[in-house]
Amino acid sequence: MQENFSFFNPVRISFGKGILKNVGKIARKYSNNALIVTGKSSMQRSGVLQKLLDILKAEGVGSTVYSGITPNPTCIEIDEAAKMAKDFKTGLIIGLGGGSPLDSAKAVAVAAKGDIPVWDYLKVKAKEALPVITIVSTSGTGSEVNRYSVMTNPATKEKPGFGYECMYPKEAIIDPEIMISMPKYVTASTGFDIFVHVLEAFTGKMKNAFSSAYCMQAFYLLKDNLINAYNEPQNLDARGNMALASALAGLAIDLSGTGIIHALEHPVSGNYPNIAHGAGLAALTVASLRYNISGCKRDFMLIAHHLGIKRAGKTDDEYAYSLIEKTQEILKAIDLNMSLKDLGVEKEALGKIAKEAFATMGFAVQNNPEEIDEKEALKLLELSY
Ligand code: NZQ
Ligand code: MN
Repeated sequence: MQENFSFFNPVRISFGKGILKNVGKIARKYSNNALIVTGKSSMQRSGVLQKLLDILKAEGVGSTVYSGITPNPTCIEIDEAAKMAKDFKTGLIIGLGGGSPLDSAKAVAVAAKGDIPVWDYLKVKAKEALPVITIVSTSGTGSEVNRYSVMTNPATKEKPGFGYECMYPKEAIIDPEIMISMPKYVTASTGFDIFVHVLEAFTGKMKNAFSSAYCMQAFYLLKDNLINAYNEPQNLDARGNMALASALAGLAIDLSGTGIIHALEHPVSGNYPNIAHGAGLAALTVASLRYNISGCKRDFMLIAHHLGIKRAGKTDDEYAYSLIEKTQEILKAIDLNMSLKDLGVEKEALGKIAKEAFATMGFAVQNNPEEIDEKEALKLLELSY
């Protein structure tokens, strides 16, 4: 029978082409003084930041911009932005961009309410946060709809995630037009992140009926749209379907967590911040699926079915294994068939990465369907090298 669980998600989702235009009215419900937290260049280049500023102004919402968030953001950047929120007496945080600015926006919302560095909230439970609106520009992390925030400590290279109930965004604005400007590599790496979220939430120990429902629909959407969005960047339907898959998968990991692939990836991009989260996942997935397959046969078969793989005379074992072959096919089709070595990870770093996976991502390790210890994790890293 299903293990006990509780279901909660308070995020209002507004989805649709051109929906950004409504953000002024939505923002005004919360405050007339917002801090926009964004990255260094993509939203400036695509013109979306300027559009947002104009829309807010037209609704009488004043705003200040913090545009120092880097991919795989650091706690230093978050503390800087939180100081700005305090200095400007901001009543609302708007995250604009990919998972990095959105995660940062949630962390800023917490840090702006307190008087301790954001890193301390890994230990101190946050009870309150400023309201957050997420305007998402990638289709990947699911940060737009969940409570998680992931940050790196540049001094130690640790990259844990945290998430308290007060960190759920109030509103998520999901406008596929904003995703059109994603370069191919960003489409591929963020899109593969969705795939791994649903793989891990669907098979993890904390899976439940609700997260599984989200996952199945996400697999169905990923089936054609991941490769279509990669090959046809201007295809708004593919972009829209990937945006939906991202949100569904974001809800699924909020409920049911991730597993060993995420546990191992966070220390990879923590130690090598130039590696995109989704690219790190790509290098680790095949070996991890092989490790997990024996205990996940039925789940793998179901996923294979949702990905449209034909059963056609295959035994159960063969059908379950076809998920791994399909994963390799997808990775090739989106040019992410890379090893940790290809990504620039040094062989000598693998031991540290395995250790940190257990120290900072224990929750994900424990949620993995198969038991795994540090030695076995190191072996997975070596197989992915
Ligand atoms: O930095 P800017 O200038 O904004 O450019 C970004 C960045 O270079 C660019 N980009 C984003 N949207 C674009 C675009 N370029 C053109 N057009 C657009 N529409 O893409 C690059 C990557 O952006 P980033 O936000 O770093 O990517 P992603 O969305 O993959 O987020 C990754 C972060 O999220 C965390 C990851 O660990 C990583 O730190 N995660 C958050 C999760 C969550 N909150 O639940 C779960 C995930 O598993 C993940 O850990
Ligand atoms: Mn992820």
